[in-house]
Amino acid sequence: MSGAETSSPEELREEVERLRAALAAREAQAVDKENQLQRYAADLRETFKEERARAQELRDSYFATVRALTNAVEARDAYTGKHAERVAAYALEIGSACGQEWAGSPEIEFGFLLHDIGKVAVPDSILHKPEPLTPQERELIQLHPVTGWEIVRQVDFLGAASDVVRYHHERWDGTGYPDRLKGEDIPLTARVFAVADTLDALTTTRPYRPSSPLSEARALIEEARGTQFDPDVVDALAGIPDDVFERIRSEIG
Ligand SMILES: [Fe+2]
Repeated sequence: MSGAETSSPEELREEVERLRAALAAREAQAVDKENQLQRYAADLRETFKEERARAQELRDSYFATVRALTNAVEARDAYTGKHAERVAAYALEIGSACGQEWAGSPEIEFGFLLHDIGKVAVPDSILHKPEPLTPQERELIQLHPVTGWEIVRQVDFLGAASDVVRYHHERWDGTGYPDRLKGEDIPLTARVFAVADTLDALTTTRPYRPSSPLSEARALIEEARGTQFDPDVVDALAGIPDDVFERIRSEIG
């Protein structure tokens, strides 16, 4: 570099000033960017909060719809009271004792609540008949799992609920209905539900018999271990203390 090209002090000062101005402009840009990013983050948080609230609203309205349907089924049978709600709570407890956390899966709970929805197609004269049923009447009642399954499988948000609805009268030994499924071919939700359903039926007063104490109901279920019921589910039930079921009964009624 020749001496003629050396910058004068004046030129150097100008250069420094120019660089300072450029740096200040860059810093201002960076601050703008940061502010913009913070605004985006705040918008995203707000959108996420709104989405969560909307999802909760949707879940609440699904539950309200399922409750309304459940009440419509139960209103026809004055003796079962809040059977569906109790049995759903029992099934969640027994499922949990089997290592299944279904409490966060509304679809499964919907299945427990709606298990007998197919009974809407059974005439009152048969549903409430005090005398023994004829074989034809029994056949008609035994259609309720399939009728119910046809109702719920058409509703997207009920998804997995249809398993409980269709298979809740299957038996571990393959002699149940409607499909005579056997053992683990029966979905676990339905195997658990079958135990919960019987537990509630036995401990509730019915027109044709008084309610049994919990200990007696447990013994009767134990007798059907491996025939009507999945042995593992019966064992899981045995590990749940009485006060769990008593608490559910006092909370739900
Ligand atoms: Fe049923």
